[in-house]
Amino acid sequence: MNWIYMKNILIIDTDPSIDDAIAFLMAIARHDLFDKVIINTTAGNSTITNVTNNALKILELVEARHIIVNRGASAPLVKAHILADHVYGKMGLDGLDLPNPSMAASLQSSYDCLIDTVVQNPPGTVTICCLAPLTNVAIAIKKRPDIIHKIKKIIIMGGAFSEAGNITPAAEFNIYVDPEAAQIVFTSFPEVVCIPLDCTHKAIITKDILERFRSVSQPLGNALYILLKYAKAYDTKKYNFGGAPLHDPTVIAYLIDKNIFSTKKVSVKVDARNGLTRGATIVDKYNNKKYQNNVLLVDGIDDSRYFDVVFECLARYPLNQHHHNDECSPTYHE
Ligand code: BDR
Ligand code: CA
Repeated sequence: MNWIYMKNILIIDTDPSIDDAIAFLMAIARHDLFDKVIINTTAGNSTITNVTNNALKILELVEARHIIVNRGASAPLVKAHILADHVYGKMGLDGLDLPNPSMAASLQSSYDCLIDTVVQNPPGTVTICCLAPLTNVAIAIKKRPDIIHKIKKIIIMGGAFSEAGNITPAAEFNIYVDPEAAQIVFTSFPEVVCIPLDCTHKAIITKDILERFRSVSQPLGNALYILLKYAKAYDTKKYNFGGAPLHDPTVIAYLIDKNIFSTKKVSVKVDARNGLTRGATIVDKYNNKKYQNNVLLVDGIDDSRYFDVVFECLARYPLNQHHHNDECSPTYHE
């Protein structure tokens, strides 16, 4: 018999807060699909120290101590770092005091780990999932452009096309923080799978969905509920969507079941000029300029099937007998 063993390695480039955490928890839970998950942090929602700590805290909460966490870029390529502390709080994961992690990040940087992982594994086995500004990926491909053709797929949560921006009128946060890096990524890969706000603004955590998080095994369920309630208050108030979007887990859901989404091939350019449109992602929707298509744009979502996938993944975490619900309480007044 001819046995073929296909490795499927996920590198998750991330700036945890809660959206990011749910995304990587989903990927870790599906070890039947993903043979190895590596967490690469980068400065984004909060400082590199905070987001790295947050990743470790969440991994310890579910006792996923086997997952490697690498610490990445502490600032965007060119400009000063812009935080999202107005949304996620000062530490990037506010609302619940999780214990300080006993695990530590590895000694390797996120970008060097990305390079080594791609170089050391067969072509077509490594998928890069970007849930944060694209600084690490840009650094890695500037150092080793030859890795590009070995990468199976790059999929990013970022950008805003027909939808308006969420950090400026024109730009989505992950692209706006480091447009120079985004420009490098969008012009280097033959195809970037891109999940923009156009899609994630249809993936709304309604009151009922928020309640569903409590039904996940403890202590995870309550922790997610409390953290989401804190972090999503800002967007719930800001938009008239009947709740707040759950952005980053769309990337993992896409890898699990792309039939939940609609897509189209388009050409996208990133505006990295200073001014009103810095960080905008410009799509040639009607193919006016006949540019080469460089993006598989994920523009639609079946939100009910999406949340089913989210909860199917989270349901795989076992009940931890050592923890009780009452050990998990918010640091804010409900
Ligand atoms: C993106 O920005 C971050 O704040 C979220 O984690 C998500 O990656 C949404 O614009
Ligand atoms: Ca993120």
